[in-house]
Amino acid sequence: MRRLVAETTLEPRQLILPMFVAEGLDEPRALDSMPGVYQHTRESLRKAAEEAVRAGVGGLMLFGVPQVHDARGSGATDPDGILNVALRDLRADLGDDTVLMSDCCLDEFTDHGHCGVLAEDGSVDNDATLARYADMAVIQAESGAHMIGPSGMMDGQVGVIREALDKAGHTYTSILAYAVKYSSAFYGPFREAVDSQLTGDRKTYQQDAANLSEALREVELDLEEGADAVMVKPALPYLDVVRAVAEQVDVPVAAYQISGEYAMIEGAAANGWIDRKPAVLETLTGIRRAGANMVLTYWAAEAAGWLAE
Ligand code: PBG
Repeated sequence: MRRLVAETTLEPRQLILPMFVAEGLDEPRALDSMPGVYQHTRESLRKAAEEAVRAGVGGLMLFGVPQVHDARGSGATDPDGILNVALRDLRADLGDDTVLMSDCCLDEFTDHGHCGVLAEDGSVDNDATLARYADMAVIQAESGAHMIGPSGMMDGQVGVIREALDKAGHTYTSILAYAVKYSSAFYGPFREAVDSQLTGDRKTYQQDAANLSEALREVELDLEEGADAVMVKPALPYLDVVRAVAEQVDVPVAAYQISGEYAMIEGAAANGWIDRKPAVLETLTGIRRAGANMVLTYWAAEAAGWLAE
């Protein structure tokens, strides 16, 4: 009877698996703060991606971890850089069996760890960064990404990426905009996952937890600039924002259950303080109930398996 009257669905196709691929690794590296998540080698990534797709996930979101970092994040626009070669691998293996997404941001590639290039005074240079994102998006599309995920929170990023993709003939490549991204303490484990070099914070370009109306303005701007879908991130501390965005827009809404949200449940479960599987499914159902059409979660493949049982 519960199944008969359930108002919220949770299906594998609604889940997107974020994955990390690192340059120069001989074997996958387990992440201390995210038990069960790995920095993959090109080979292990292919295998894990195949398994996730077989489990029915709706998409994969790929992050690259380069060996060399520099001020402009050169690895991001190198066609032979790790993210781009891995996109080629996965597109060749998986074709159109899943939606292949790529993180379009410089923080994984820069030696200062910021999401953009810096001006002389050390601040992030919004407009100089836009040019880098445009190049990055085109290379990612050429490498096989179906959907580009600009996550750097620079003003105007969706517009320049859309224009650059169209000019390069990638009119069918779509954009999942990280429209609403809060400056969050819960990104901690991710920074281990991508060997981030960041020492300060991102408060000059990520949003303040106290604000909701700002989130709705960010969404409006991204839609005007050509976003095909919008994302709210993190998920659990911002379910009211997910709800407000879902009510405001008529495009698909994604929510990203981030690394710290994952680590909290894994940590509590490892201590025997919480029952892992129902806790995970409860959070995913809650995010869906709040109005997210799709959820990025490090449990995507495993949860897809549970849902198919
Ligand atoms: C930026 C980016 C971040 C995450 C995804 N894309 C990190 C940040 O802003 O520090 C975080 C994802 C997570 O914590 O799981 N490229």
